[in-house]
Amino acid sequence: MDLTQAREKLAGCGQTHLLTWYDTLTEREQDALLEQIDALDLHLLDVFADFLNEGETQRGEIAPLNALTIPEINENLEKFESAGLDAIRQGKVGAVLLAGGMGTRLGCEMPKGMFDIGVNQPLYIFECLIRNLLAVVDRAGAYVPLFIMTSEKNDEQTRTFLKEMHYFGYNKEYVHFFVQETAPAVDENGSILLEEKGRIATSPNGNGGWFASMVNAGLLPLLKREGIEWLNVFAVDNVLQKIADPAFVGATILSGAASGSKVVSKSSPEECVGVLCLEDGIPSIVEYYEMTEEMRTRREPDGTLSYNYGVILNYLFRTDCLERLAGENMPVHVVHKKVPHIDQNGNLVTPDKPNAYKFETLVLDMIHMQDKCLSFEVDRQREFAPVKNAVGADSVETARELLRLNGVAL
Ligand code: UTP
Repeated sequence: MDLTQAREKLAGCGQTHLLTWYDTLTEREQDALLEQIDALDLHLLDVFADFLNEGETQRGEIAPLNALTIPEINENLEKFESAGLDAIRQGKVGAVLLAGGMGTRLGCEMPKGMFDIGVNQPLYIFECLIRNLLAVVDRAGAYVPLFIMTSEKNDEQTRTFLKEMHYFGYNKEYVHFFVQETAPAVDENGSILLEEKGRIATSPNGNGGWFASMVNAGLLPLLKREGIEWLNVFAVDNVLQKIADPAFVGATILSGAASGSKVVSKSSPEECVGVLCLEDGIPSIVEYYEMTEEMRTRREPDGTLSYNYGVILNYLFRTDCLERLAGENMPVHVVHKKVPHIDQNGNLVTPDKPNAYKFETLVLDMIHMQDKCLSFEVDRQREFAPVKNAVGADSVETARELLRLNGVAL
């Protein structure tokens, strides 16, 4: 894109301020800015206008969805595990590590997976995850291809670190990186922000774009060549995360559903976790802040919460279903965040409270795009130790406690 084309594109949507300092930039900076303008997704400005007018979109009719409970799973464990291990041995299962987040709540500068959660010895978050996956590889006697999604902000650091650490014993032939897309940030009036005179303020566009980013990165032919039929997507920050868990894989395949989600029973009605339920008859996840008091506290005749099953960001998707949905627009969430930027005089502004809006798509919305989802209950003490915050709930300390409980040496 040249300058004239950039001017035209920006004039059409009232964003020409992005070129204020164009003439003062070096040739390289000018080219980089034009490239960013070329890549700008103007649809996001419409999303923002709708958000200002209407707020977030309304939900459909919500109803509870039963899970396959732990006792039910245990009764059928052999059957589920055997089906899962077969699929893994046949190379039908891949794992996708979502590691493109900014980890702002934890407040660590480096990629979250590089965080050392050890006490007497180093134990990196990536190490915890890869160890868990290696346990499955050992059982199956076959490697599970591991796809790692990074962002522009942390790609190089992540790759260098894992290389230096020799992928914590994982066979590097089975490790594939891809970078997720970014989205611009806008101020309260919808003006796109600059982080430098020649750079638009962008950030990773949420974890919902992972499959589209895999496709953009040219990984689809690999999935097809290798015959990968299922992808197990999981978050970087749960250090007890079981990946390509044979029981989960087998139960989902045998259920005939196009997707599966690991869930935990809520610890209390107030727990801040998204709940897997039905929306207009198809699976969906309702965030804790979207739940009414009635939904939070409603109970079944046996005393369990009606909306009991919280998601832990560990999902299975059938690759062919993802492919079919690849062209469809996912809901874009507008989130209020702190975004450093330069003002109209070119001075850096470092906000201490949310000052701007970012655009994100979320992997949980992909569940609502599937006809069926197997809700698969797991024991939170064994499988759910998220590291979200530096202190308090879901923090480094609570995760260490759970690692100890599971016999992991810290
Ligand atoms: P979170 O919602 O916890 O976001 O991500 P975060 O960016 O890591 O942390 P905060 O909110 O800034 O504190 C859940 C999972 O989704 C990934 C994260 O890396 C984590 O595994 N994620 C999130 C991405 O891969 N890309 C994104 O754009 C956002």
